[in-house]
Amino acid sequence: MSGVNYSEKIPNNVNLVSDRTLQRALEHWQPHFIDWWKGMGPSDFQSADVYLRTAISVDAQGWAHYGVTKMPDYRWGIFLADPQAERKIGFGDQMGQPVWQQVPGEYRSTLRRLIVTQGDTEPASVEQQRLLGHTCPSLYDLRNLFQINVEEGRHLWAMVYLLHAYFGRDGREEAEELLARHSGDADKPRILTTFNEPISDWLSLFCFTYFTDRDGKYQLKSLAESAFDPLSRTCRFMLTEEAHHMFVGETGLGRVVKRTLEVMKEIGTDDPAKVRAAGAVDLQTLQKYLNFWCSSSLDLFGNEISSNSAANFANGLKGRPDESQYDDHVLREKTLLMATPQGEQTVPVLNALNEVMRESYLKDCEIGLKRWNRQIERAGHAFRLTLPSSRFRRTIGTWAGQPVDPQGKMLGKEEYEKRLNEWIPSASDRAFVHSLMQKVTTPGKIAGWVAPPDRGINNLPVEYEYVKLH
Ligand SMILES: [Fe+2]
Ligand SMILES: [Fe+2]
Repeated sequence: MSGVNYSEKIPNNVNLVSDRTLQRALEHWQPHFIDWWKGMGPSDFQSADVYLRTAISVDAQGWAHYGVTKMPDYRWGIFLADPQAERKIGFGDQMGQPVWQQVPGEYRSTLRRLIVTQGDTEPASVEQQRLLGHTCPSLYDLRNLFQINVEEGRHLWAMVYLLHAYFGRDGREEAEELLARHSGDADKPRILTTFNEPISDWLSLFCFTYFTDRDGKYQLKSLAESAFDPLSRTCRFMLTEEAHHMFVGETGLGRVVKRTLEVMKEIGTDDPAKVRAAGAVDLQTLQKYLNFWCSSSLDLFGNEISSNSAANFANGLKGRPDESQYDDHVLREKTLLMATPQGEQTVPVLNALNEVMRESYLKDCEIGLKRWNRQIERAGHAFRLTLPSSRFRRTIGTWAGQPVDPQGKMLGKEEYEKRLNEWIPSASDRAFVHSLMQKVTTPGKIAGWVAPPDRGINNLPVEYEYVKLH
């Protein structure tokens, strides 16, 4: 089952060759995807030789092959994790019944919507990041960016396969639409707001991969619980690749902190203006970037109180991440006390699942902050990085539009507006960060605002020429 047929146009472990109609439909979509990649993918590096990993199986040992390839020649394939024998629905009102190999008619449009919404984020992030190659801090970082980009492309393939294989003509139309919407486009934007925010500097990229790809992890984990087995198996394998994207974010931000602390030591002061003048990102500015991307990503979990997520759970379409760690999988009895701007409310847990997911996401986000704060503490500084309150700068849910500061304190509207630039990057903060973004492409060299990584990719040295430019 894990074997991949690489002699076919589309590498896959779903026995595509046995379904000629499906194979032809996907082979018809493939050139549209390549056109999209060339037009909307990384700008200007299509002829570079990049050291990339490619999924070649779904075996936990050795699922990836590393080698040099030009990005348009990347082998984007369709891989589903191996089926679990006798898998049963693990939550909701149909708990314990066999999982579905086909889409039940009554859930067809909801499942299609879930898949399209997930699928839309994958090419969106490639579009958001398409200009970053021009300001890469090193060849190592450039390669990591491209690795993420090609894998988001593969994640699009993963969702398009489901649409083609299980949703007939509607699915094929949705697959075309996934290439027609574009990040930030005035007429046809991507579905979710965060995926229309431009990512024009590498500090934002590190924040995006730390916070937004982590939202991706939580979405994939909850879809991996789905009773629709092909969706579950697809998402389980996507999570394997997703781990690297968050690694780029966590180590990237850690390297920024490390470099800033080195510079503070060299110049003998923690004065933000002097740190900036010495070419590093002051910790106060880093905090603003964390506030911006964390709050933006928190919106992706949706409304605190949601009858849609209740129905998706009850019907077995979308579970909680790591569903098996909970003891109640039906949630027909439980309630929860929720703080809203109007006071505390008792809400059925079933209707508060977005909030449950958001809370566990925030706990996961804390892990990196603890590590970076230890670095800061060891360097003898009192400053600590924090996550903003989940009520700060929300545009969705009960806290949407509320004038709350990053500590969660309610302010007057006027004070909030006046002080917002203290909490998220102002135009001049962004201009400063942009001024640091100088392209470095000499093997082994690195930009001055970020420390080198501890080690290279796949046991290669940090100085290895990960991208050969022509
Ligand atoms: Fe992805
Ligand atoms: Fe990702």
